[in-house]
Amino acid sequence: MRAHMEFRMMNNQASSSNSLTTNIDAMRSKLNMTASAPADAPWGLPGNFYTDQAFFEYECATLLKSSWHCVGRADELLEIGDYITLNLLSEPLIIVRDQSGIKALSNVCRHRGMRLAEGTGNTKRFVCPYHAWM
Ligand code: FES
Repeated sequence: MRAHMEFRMMNNQASSSNSLTTNIDAMRSKLNMTASAPADAPWGLPGNFYTDQAFFEYECATLLKSSWHCVGRADELLEIGDYITLNLLSEPLIIVRDQSGIKALSNVCRHRGMRLAEGTGNTKRFVCPYHAWM
């Protein structure tokens, strides 16, 4: 899975710009230098590590999307039908309690991609606000 994601990311970069790949390589090199700095002479990451879109996408593909993420507390979803919505790494999600437990669902209608729910609430079913698919 990780190899597939890295390949996809590299393809996207190659099609958009070779300078992005070069930029990522340079940033990875800086990251290795930072990690290997002696403990008595530490230095921080340059600011673009926190703002560079290509590096964020690289982190998502190689690290963040392969890990578990805490998206809330079980006590926020006490009743069957309780839900919360959120975006996690650009993916809109619904976290909902049903008869069998707590589940994470895509918050996108399969028909034309409308958002199915906003905020928090309780529902017996999610109905698309656009064409009313369930
Ligand atoms: S977009 Fe959801 S039913 Fe058509």
